[in-house]
Amino acid sequence: MFRVDLRSDTVTKPTATMRRVMFDAEVGDDVFGEDPSIRALEERTAEVLGKEAALFVPSGTMANQISLAVIANTGSEIYCSEKAHIFNYESGGISVIARAQLHTIPGDRGIFSAADVAKRLRPADDHFPVSRIIELENTMNGGGGAIWPLDMVAAHRELANQHGMWIHLDGARLWNAAVGSGVREETWASYADTVSVCFSKGLGAPVGSAIAGSRSFIEEAHRWRKRLGGGMRQAGIIASGALYAIDHHRDRLHDDHQRAKRLAEELNQYDVIDVDMEGVQTNIVWLTFKDDSALTMMNALKERGIGTIAFDGQRMRLVTHLDVDDEGIDQALLAFRELLSATS
Ligand SMILES: Cc1ncc(COP(=O)(O)O)c(C=O)c1O
Repeated sequence: MFRVDLRSDTVTKPTATMRRVMFDAEVGDDVFGEDPSIRALEERTAEVLGKEAALFVPSGTMANQISLAVIANTGSEIYCSEKAHIFNYESGGISVIARAQLHTIPGDRGIFSAADVAKRLRPADDHFPVSRIIELENTMNGGGGAIWPLDMVAAHRELANQHGMWIHLDGARLWNAAVGSGVREETWASYADTVSVCFSKGLGAPVGSAIAGSRSFIEEAHRWRKRLGGGMRQAGIIASGALYAIDHHRDRLHDDHQRAKRLAEELNQYDVIDVDMEGVQTNIVWLTFKDDSALTMMNALKERGIGTIAFDGQRMRLVTHLDVDDEGIDQALLAFRELLSATS
């Protein structure tokens, strides 16, 4: 459909080697606990994240929803960014599944401080919800792929400890945060009680996410996965692609980050486009079109085989990934140049 698809890092197709690994995967009925490829992926994920155990689930949404359902008690409150995926893009699932409420917090690129949470904590009084969970997202998708400062995450941990609260980390792109910051996944995860990660985004696997945490948390999460219909059978065929991705596609994320920087630098030179250059920290670039032409531009780029997403007249998002190489970036930049010089 697109020559160069910059709409999302979810559009990647499995590589030839990944497909071969998947073809050869040993499988069994995972609902009976008999799929060796899934076991191997869960063990490797727990190891990379430094947690006792992990659970393979079909999607990042299910990973977040299950984690929060296990931790939240009905009527409790979860603090998160106003840009958080769980708030904006999970179909209101928290109110249906965890039956908790979200308390959203503004912040710079979706990043908020422990003090921002502290001043919103609820008194111990029947009138109020129970302050229970702090949810952090790293990298922050709605914040342009920003990486959290590690000391701010540590401050959230301290606050959570003081008030008997949990921290859930939505690490759909934790791999990008690790490569972009030089801080390992295990370190980021050490500040959280529970972590969700996705294999189907920057890592390029076709399907799958995981949740990691203590063994007792994972036992409860396992029940929730069944309850939601997420128990899969011979799913080792997809888990093996994810395992391959964890071991072979993390280091290369550096290339995606470099390409995003190049896109941002070159596009920022057009008068009509504004890029928050400091915000380009990983594989996501947000463009602001000062003349309200983002939607028109998206359609014109589409006709030239370049995929982008414009959310309104001003905001367009570009995401680099495994299936966009330097030549793809050249082609995208050329299309922008031709279109922008035609209109100026
Ligand atoms: C930060 C974040 N969390 C969770 C998800 C949900 O993942 P999935 O699409 O696999 O449900 C996404 C999807 O893009 C995401 O960006």
